[in-house]
Amino acid sequence: MTETTPFPDGFLWGAATSAYQIEGSPLADGAGPSIWHRFTRIPGKVRDGDTADVACDHYNRYLEDVALMKSLGLGAYRFSISWSRVMPEGRGAVNQKGLDFYRRLVDALHEAGIRPMATLYHWDLPAALDDRGGWTNPDIAGWFADYARTCFRALDGAIDLWTTLNEPWVIADGGYLHGVLAPGHDSPFEAPRASKNLLLAHAAGVTAYRAEGKGQIGLVVNLEPKYPASKRLEDLSAVARADAYMNRQYLDQALLGKVPEGLADIFGEAWEGPTDAELAAMKVPVDYVGVNYYTRAVVHDDPRSFPVMEGRTLQRNTTHTETGWEVYPDGLYDVLTWVRRRYGNVPLYVTENGAAFYDPPVSPEPLLNDPLRVAYLDAHLGAVRRAIAEGVDVRGYFAWSLLDNMEWAHGYRKRFGIVHVDFATQKRTPKASARFYAEVIRTNGACLRLAGS
Ligand code: BGC
Repeated sequence: MTETTPFPDGFLWGAATSAYQIEGSPLADGAGPSIWHRFTRIPGKVRDGDTADVACDHYNRYLEDVALMKSLGLGAYRFSISWSRVMPEGRGAVNQKGLDFYRRLVDALHEAGIRPMATLYHWDLPAALDDRGGWTNPDIAGWFADYARTCFRALDGAIDLWTTLNEPWVIADGGYLHGVLAPGHDSPFEAPRASKNLLLAHAAGVTAYRAEGKGQIGLVVNLEPKYPASKRLEDLSAVARADAYMNRQYLDQALLGKVPEGLADIFGEAWEGPTDAELAAMKVPVDYVGVNYYTRAVVHDDPRSFPVMEGRTLQRNTTHTETGWEVYPDGLYDVLTWVRRRYGNVPLYVTENGAAFYDPPVSPEPLLNDPLRVAYLDAHLGAVRRAIAEGVDVRGYFAWSLLDNMEWAHGYRKRFGIVHVDFATQKRTPKASARFYAEVIRTNGACLRLAGS
């Protein structure tokens, strides 16, 4: 295959969302509160005091949303299941009505010819489990496996692509080390403990699936390639630390059964690494790895920045998104080829890729014009195609996100959607990027070059 040929037949073209970010109605039909339900109620934690009590009202509008996906020609839809809808207390009693919602969604997807890909955990831990220590409690691997099994028994067959965790790095770093995400803890002692339990829970989920599942299961990680700001030894060491912490921490343990070099030193006496038995338990074969890619980091040594002692060197004369992330499509090519070099030719999906940009108001334009997002998708899909041309086994791509939604601590101000959502009226309007993506799907990527020009 050459760089200009289309994507392989059967390539999955999808878009992604997550439960808390779009569903709304967080306590409907017997659901329990999640840590995000709680976190958004703590003054100052989320911009403008936003909550996802309504969000995109997808819980009530899922049929309209599936019709929208169909109109764009999506072949797949990646969503997440809310643990506290299924188990309001996080363990024990199952809430059938919570499961029924996902069954209705999945049935509608099948009817529309769209393949569902379900993530079991996208950051919305049941608050009742946080009361027991959440991800720092070693019992959580068992709780997670029980919850996962409940979902498999109710939905496997209708769902044949499963993900255990979305971005364990963000869960531990944002939720337990820096406290900018729920549950909002900032403890260097809790973060390594949470990381270890996340990995053990992932493995327990995969093992539960092997016992009865018929499809495929994998792990989704966010990868951000690190490049040195200079050739100084200090900067090169900072790159190695940043890479161990963010990119190798989870994949090395889950796929190779080893703790990446340098990780323990980053945490010093706070490090509570896995025992040999735990490491062995973490390493279970997965069917695929999901890669979420947004940007790169050009790194320099910064002794004041705890705990990795790395700083980011701002790049000039490049485009940055509304979240301050440099647009760097080559980084996606770099991470996809790096995964193959380091971990072998494991099947990959790009499970998230996208950008928040300022979008002009919808009215009076019937079609929202978002040229920066079109260019972003075009260039990043080109990077995926290059990786495929070099033999990397990339099986699908999911744009983040289908809808503008609740961007965690940023609230509703950062719009990642290819479809605009007017949060006052809940009106959905496909942006130019949605039309562009629909054309990419229709031509299986053959239109990419033209669209970029
Ligand atoms: C997360 C999404 C989030 C996106 C943009 C990813 O880290 O999985 O939930 O909206 O990045 O920040």
